[in-house]
Amino acid sequence: MSISAIEAIESSPAAAPESAALLDVTGISVAYGQSQVIRRLSLSAQQGEIVAILGLNGMGKTTLMKALIGLLPVRQGNIVLGGKELSQREPYERVMEGLAYVPQGRMVFPKLTVEENIITGLRSAGEQPPEALYRYFPVLWDMRKRRGGNLSGGQQQQLVIARALASHPRVLLLDEPTEGIQPSIIKQLAEVLRTIRDEQGLTIVVSEQVLSFALAIADRVLVIDRGHFIHESAGKDIDERAVARLLSI
Ligand SMILES: Nc1ncnc2c1ncn2[C@@H]1O[C@H](COP(=O)(O)OP(=O)(O)O)[C@@H](O)[C@H]1O
Ligand SMILES: [Mg+2]
Repeated sequence: MSISAIEAIESSPAAAPESAALLDVTGISVAYGQSQVIRRLSLSAQQGEIVAILGLNGMGKTTLMKALIGLLPVRQGNIVLGGKELSQREPYERVMEGLAYVPQGRMVFPKLTVEENIITGLRSAGEQPPEALYRYFPVLWDMRKRRGGNLSGGQQQQLVIARALASHPRVLLLDEPTEGIQPSIIKQLAEVLRTIRDEQGLTIVVSEQVLSFALAIADRVLVIDRGHFIHESAGKDIDERAVARLLSI
């Protein structure tokens, strides 16, 4: 190939595409009646990126998560996944497009078995959950005939994540997954989520109060304060002490 041909390739825009974010949220506002909790907030995540949203109680993490999955309406703004605008779509339609949501407080179906809980996460009858699910969460295989309500907190958290993964999502939304879970399990959870990301290219947006978990899992951290992001840093530049200071009361 001639040098001019190489130059032509290098300078052509198609040769070096700046990849668009998989999840692109711009300027969303969310309110409960007159009380506006999220005001013109923007957030994006690349495919395979893990983004942690850190914030104290009452700062708007759950409100944001519910708005992203469609359990709360947005007053304005856009929620775009893979180029598709979802902000006016029903939650089930967002799931069909590749969003999955693990609510704060876990909410397993207590009377259903582990296996049945996972099946409720499928997008349609006859579909199979990802084969790797029980490899990621071996304790769920051991417990598959047990009722969800009889599992420990850490096991229930694994179960609701597995249930969310059963829909083959592109973006997993996790709302405070470490709440009420033992430190040893928290560490395992961070490891398995990173493995799933590495193997499946999954994008994860996780809200947290536990800084150590966020640092163990995230490629990028954002700090939310009364519905606004007041800090953002990524990779080697994550300033642990600055973030810790913002999270101290
Ligand atoms: N159903 C609701 N009705 C009215 N206000 C609410 C409701 N849920 C949450 N809020 C308020 O919205 C703010 C953010 O809450 P939330 O999103 O739950 O925060 P976080 O998840 O960060 O703890 C808080 O001030 C909270 O009191
Ligand atoms: Mg919350």
